Amino acid sequence: MLDDMHAQLVAKLDTTDTIRAAFANHPRHLYIPDMVWPDITGLPLLRTADPDRWACVVYTDGAVTTQANDGGSGPRNEPSSSSSAPQLMADMISAANIEPGMRVLEIGTGSGWNAAILSSLVGPTGHVTTVEIDADMAAHARVRLAGTGVRVVTGTMPSDADVFDAVIATCAVSRVPPEWIARIELGSLIVTPWAADSNWQRTPVAALRKTGPSCVSGPFVSDAMFMHDRTQRVPDGDFPGLGRRPETTGVMPFTSGDLVERGLITRLMLMLPGVRVGVGVRPFNGAIGRIVYLGADDSSWAYLWPDGSITSGGRLSLVDRLRNAYQWLSEAGWPELDAFCLEADPPNKVHRVEVGSLGVWEHTC
Ligand SMILES: C[S@@+](CC[C@H](N)C(=O)[O-])C[C@H]1O[C@@H](n2cnc3c(N)ncnc32)[C@H](O)[C@@H]1O
Repeated sequence: MLDDMHAQLVAKLDTTDTIRAAFANHPRHLYIPDMVWPDITGLPLLRTADPDRWACVVYTDGAVTTQANDGGSGPRNEPSSSSSAPQLMADMISAANIEPGMRVLEIGTGSGWNAAILSSLVGPTGHVTTVEIDADMAAHARVRLAGTGVRVVTGTMPSDADVFDAVIATCAVSRVPPEWIARIELGSLIVTPWAADSNWQRTPVAALRKTGPSCVSGPFVSDAMFMHDRTQRVPDGDFPGLGRRPETTGVMPFTSGDLVERGLITRLMLMLPGVRVGVGVRPFNGAIGRIVYLGADDSSWAYLWPDGSITSGGRLSLVDRLRNAYQWLSEAGWPELDAFCLEADPPNKVHRVEVGSLGVWEHTC
């Protein structure tokens, strides 16, 4: 049964035959731990307790949470390790141009599944090194990856001086680590999810080419929601505006639904440095409504509601900034996410988002 479910997962992937064949070599159920966390609250699911439900969780199209709260407990099961969504894995592998013979560094081993697939793609003449900061997850993956030739390193970087042909990160960063850039040649790629800080809800994936000793740049290639690099976490901010009186302070020519359904949240976020942008729910007209929220470090906040009304407070006018960003997108002809590029020169504190010569936004990371 599990092998059939894996074959169905592989058949659904929208990717090249080569990448599909590499997925086919490595059934997902061989890498997912026996204990998974299907829900954001409540108990984990044990394979032995309910093998059929475990199989359904493993063979979803989405991510599977394999560890919560860094291995500890809490009121919510905050994912701290997961097996990423298969289509996103295929898209990131494709963006990294993985070829036979390449030396690949993966950041964030997790279950080991992505590293196994990479090992098939680089073949016997290539090599995959994967690093995992969590000792328990690294130990799990080391066992599951036995026989694939993958080297699993516990930590954040191999201690030797190896150089790699590509880096694929499966956790999001704010500052692109200079040591990743140092380990690749000019022209090589780093494919990584990026968010200006760990409170950002979305972490679009960028394919960054090395353009100088400490610089990389390239387009965003996929929208995504990855967990953040554990070494770059900033403390969770409160939900913006929590406990404030919901007084209407304006009306926008667009609604929260317009922004979410048109997939504009990530692009707006890239254009609003210093602002946390996300989607949440709040009571609205006797039901539950989806809001777009904005929050800044000085506790300024704004909500955009399903009818286009705005409630806001604080010193900064986040409403004006949102209106201007939306208007810019409209006047620029609604550029897609892949028109947005990230340029990073971490030692010089540069993390800049650009759309050609049309727009530039400097982020502080
Ligand atoms: C989305 S999961 C990895 C998915 C994985 N590639 C797979 O195939 O299952 C992200 C992983 O990154 C790890 N991680 C977070 N920060 C890290 C860092 N600075 N260095 C290495 N691993 C890190 C987390 O512990 C977590 O296991």
